[in-house]
Amino acid sequence: MSENNTHATNFHNDPRVQQAKALLREALTEHSSKLDNVAPANLSLETSYKSTLESCGQLRGGNLFFPYLGSGLGNGPFVELGDGSVKLDFITGIGVHFFGHSSPILLDSQIDAALADTIMQGNLQQNLDTEILLNKIMKLAKAQGAELEHCFLTSSGSMANDNAFKLAFQKHSPADRVIAFENCFCGRTIAMASVTDKELYRTGIPTVLNVDYIPYFDPENPEESTARSIAALKRLIQRYPNRHALMKFELLQGEGGGYKVAQADYFRELMTICRENNVAVLADEIQTFGRFSKPFAFQYYNLDDLVDLVNIGKLSQVCATLFTSNYKPKPGLISQTFTSSASQINAAITIMDTFANGDLFGPNGKIETLTNYFRTKLQDIADRVPGSLTGPFGLGDMIAFTPLDGSLDKAKALMMQLYDDGLLCFIAGGNPYRLRMLPPIPAIDESHIDLAANLIETAIKKIQSV
Ligand SMILES: Cc1ncc(COP(=O)(O)O)c(C=O)c1O
Repeated sequence: MSENNTHATNFHNDPRVQQAKALLREALTEHSSKLDNVAPANLSLETSYKSTLESCGQLRGGNLFFPYLGSGLGNGPFVELGDGSVKLDFITGIGVHFFGHSSPILLDSQIDAALADTIMQGNLQQNLDTEILLNKIMKLAKAQGAELEHCFLTSSGSMANDNAFKLAFQKHSPADRVIAFENCFCGRTIAMASVTDKELYRTGIPTVLNVDYIPYFDPENPEESTARSIAALKRLIQRYPNRHALMKFELLQGEGGGYKVAQADYFRELMTICRENNVAVLADEIQTFGRFSKPFAFQYYNLDDLVDLVNIGKLSQVCATLFTSNYKPKPGLISQTFTSSASQINAAITIMDTFANGDLFGPNGKIETLTNYFRTKLQDIADRVPGSLTGPFGLGDMIAFTPLDGSLDKAKALMMQLYDDGLLCFIAGGNPYRLRMLPPIPAIDESHIDLAANLIETAIKKIQSV
């Protein structure tokens, strides 16, 4: 044992801990490797599973969206449910389980977290790991020259947006308005529900922010829609001079847009107008972070010189607001009991290392290669099976298609048929409705995509024959 180490380092280096980790790795591999295909429920577990689902729905005050309660074991894209069934998970908790289930890549970080002195870390008392993580996030974020300097951890994507809004409001006080895209998704706190452009999500809730919407890019009409958005933005800024603190950008419109893609020039023009008028540019990367051929979507679109505030969440396991020194808050503006759990922080450190050193990004990286393969497969179905689907839409690891006639009924019917047959995906958009997927790229190969494509084609034919 070295005298230059803390007791904690000596503990983690203890041969007994190393040996225990090796044993856990071995046991996990042995058990999880049995989950190598989709499978129906185990009949002997069905009754107890059904009553657990009912109890869960009753306790939480509403049924679960899917009859899904995981057993706690998986294998990459495969996840075992409490009834023993096995699903191919291409929705990954809406983009959270990017490294798959029971990920060997993240296992050590999770064992270390279990051995840490506390479960949660907070702003008042946090561990050395936090500084390591913040450094790694910032290094990735600044790789192409963005002027981001700071990173503040928080507990959810909505809270990251809330913090970013606070920084912008304080900096541009007394500005009291925000700009967002029509159909945007911003989160579900009362403030963020005021911005999220969906009536259903704010029914009965007071509107607490003044939000002005502009139309999003239309891929069918690039020039016209760009001109329309620019004109709308200029009109708003003229109508309310110095009243807008920020504009919130989703660099690919997710939940609300059904994975609607825009162009780099489109964002550049709008962001430039914001910058010229003292309106902070917020890139909400809670869903886009880690999905394209570069770690951040703003890097993919080469918008590094224009972002003031950037939020990450979901696959990073931690949620955070990144900001330039212009937006540094006065003491007291942002804080919280929790920053993240030790488990989240440790996982995020491994994830940032994988992003920095791995083979995920770039034109020949795993994200581009596998998602292009998946898109080709979906296109094949569209070509071979008349009326089956339109698309695919989206970019990188955000993949969507419009099933059948694009109606809500048909999209839901197909999603539930796929669920029963073993593929997890989720609905998005509206007019038309789409099915979207966020596959766990580091944990899959072409064989998993072939399986997903077969399940999709079979399920579509079942719905078509009803
Ligand atoms: C673009 C975007 N912003 C914000 C959020 C809210 O994140 P959370 O659900 O973690 O609060 C989401 C979640 O889907 C999102 O996709």
